[in-house]
Amino acid sequence: MPASAQPKTAVPQPSEGATAEGATALRPHAEQAFAGELAALAAQDDRPRPARWRLSPWAVATYLLGGTLPDGTVITPKYVGPRRIVEVAVTTLATDRALLLLGVPGTAKTWVSEHLAAAVSGDSTLLVQGTAGTPEEAIRYGWNYARLLAHGPSRDALVPSPVMRAMAEGMTARVEELTRIPADVQDTLITILSEKTLPIPELGEEVQAVRGFNLIATANDRDRGVNDLSSALRRRFNTVVLPLPESAEAEVDIVTRRVEQLGRSLDLPAAPDGMVEIRRVVTVFRELRDG
Ligand SMILES: Nc1ncnc2c1ncn2[C@@H]1O[C@H](COP(=O)(O)OP(=O)(O)OP(=O)(O)O)[C@@H](O)[C@H]1O
Ligand SMILES: [Mg+2]
Repeated sequence: MPASAQPKTAVPQPSEGATAEGATALRPHAEQAFAGELAALAAQDDRPRPARWRLSPWAVATYLLGGTLPDGTVITPKYVGPRRIVEVAVTTLATDRALLLLGVPGTAKTWVSEHLAAAVSGDSTLLVQGTAGTPEEAIRYGWNYARLLAHGPSRDALVPSPVMRAMAEGMTARVEELTRIPADVQDTLITILSEKTLPIPELGEEVQAVRGFNLIATANDRDRGVNDLSSALRRRFNTVVLPLPESAEAEVDIVTRRVEQLGRSLDLPAAPDGMVEIRRVVTVFRELRDG
């Protein structure tokens, strides 16, 4: 990288100047990309908000489904699909049960999870990516070994996971691809979700979740059987199944919006007859999917 590159844009600081940094990031986070809409919703939302929520459940649902605010601000739809799905998801987050978004690949599980976290907590970055190699430390906490060796176990040497930070700050944590995580590691979540606490035996302490904490997990239908959720863990989640787009029209609508957004962020010139191509591609995919 040339010496003239500005370190400020190269190393984004999540908490500061989120919108300014988001403007140059290749893929800004939801709360950066839609900062204007979120601010307009927060300003005009006079409904009650659950503890530490940035918006009321009504405003979160409006952010996801789109709508027009009293002052004329247009909120673009993020999720195209049944309103009820979004309402159940948002309501779940306001209760003490966690939310599991389930569906086949490409049904917007990750997308919905990111936008829900952005709207509820203003931060979608408290994320654990589930893989076959996800260790327990990724969900609980790890250690900074230099500090651990120098000073022994202490809060300073502890490296909190995104889930631990969400618990301490009353935010929304996200776990992607939950069923790819080995079963014994998955079960770490049971205490967190039912007791709402994360013990740190090395320090004789615990981190108790404060109000506002909740967790959104996503899992792929096709992975069923890879590392199936234990029934103890499944009971701690409300499961919302995201369906495939019900009609070709809805699918064309989704693809058109996404192509437009991607085109804008990559500064591509607008394609004049994009619609024809999109319709053709969507038709091919629907036919392949339906066998
Ligand atoms: N119903 C929908 N409404 C709006 N956008 C959608 C919808 N379905 C899919 N998309 C678009 O599809 C893209 C892919 O979705 P996403 O990556 O969230 O899928 P996923 O369900 O997490 O898939 P995977 O199982 O592969 O992780 C999203 O960026 C989103 O723009
Ligand atoms: Mg995904």
